[in-house]
Amino acid sequence: MSESSTVFSSLIHSRRSVRKYDQAASFDHEAVARALELATLSPNSSNMQLWEFHRVINQEKRDQLAQYCMGQNAAKTANELVAFVVTPQKWKGRAEMNASQIRQAFEGREDATAKRALKYYEKLIPFVYNNDRLGIFGFARKILSALLGIKKPMVREVSKADLRVCLHKSSSLAAMTFMTAMRAEGYDTCPMEGFDSKRTKALLGLHKDAEITMIISCGKRADDGIYSERHRIASDEVIISH
Ligand SMILES: Cc1cc2nc3c(=O)[nH]c(=O)nc-3n(C[C@H](O)[C@H](O)[C@H](O)COP(=O)(O)O)c2cc1C
Repeated sequence: MSESSTVFSSLIHSRRSVRKYDQAASFDHEAVARALELATLSPNSSNMQLWEFHRVINQEKRDQLAQYCMGQNAAKTANELVAFVVTPQKWKGRAEMNASQIRQAFEGREDATAKRALKYYEKLIPFVYNNDRLGIFGFARKILSALLGIKKPMVREVSKADLRVCLHKSSSLAAMTFMTAMRAEGYDTCPMEGFDSKRTKALLGLHKDAEITMIISCGKRADDGIYSERHRIASDEVIISH
């Protein structure tokens, strides 16, 4: 094992979901800022970066959010809470940003690769990301993909619901980068999905179409902050070779 893989392995082993933080310990909010900068480097679908990271530092707001996290200790005793949010409503701007990036990168080139890359953000992305309230466009895409898929391999996840999954996948990867980076900073985290999304959206002033992937609490673990030994089912049940 190389030195860096030993360091990485120890980080992964030492990350636990911490349910109680040491409120007497000092906490550097700049560590959260640094970890979030690293989170923005996470892989994400089509580099659309349809995510936002809402930091709740203010004590009063934190107390309110802890209540919305169903009063969980992991939220109540935290020094900071970060909501990982997906922003489907921003798709047009992000598609344009990617297209202009490609135009710059391929300036002066008119070959097939340049054209294909541009077409991806100018035609395919708008086709898949454009959704109506009832999901009718997505349903039509689903039928089209099933028909095209009879003859050749085809992406099947094209409905409005599929797009939600797609955005939450990317946001979850950012969340994992963030939690690992926080561990490297010497702090602990707990990812939470047990919260009132409606009230939290109002508290954070989120757009009606935005959704919260998870809320991550941050702090330094208390001596009794980890509730049980870590347990995982046998690897050979979940790691399957073909
Ligand atoms: C998407 C997601 C949601 C979670 N929600 C909560 C939660 O609301 N409250 C909580 O105490 N733990 C929550 N957890 C933490 C899991 O219970 C924890 O990761 C799991 O038991 C494994 O323990 P470990 O993280 O210490 O390895 C959540 C984890 C994930 C990934």
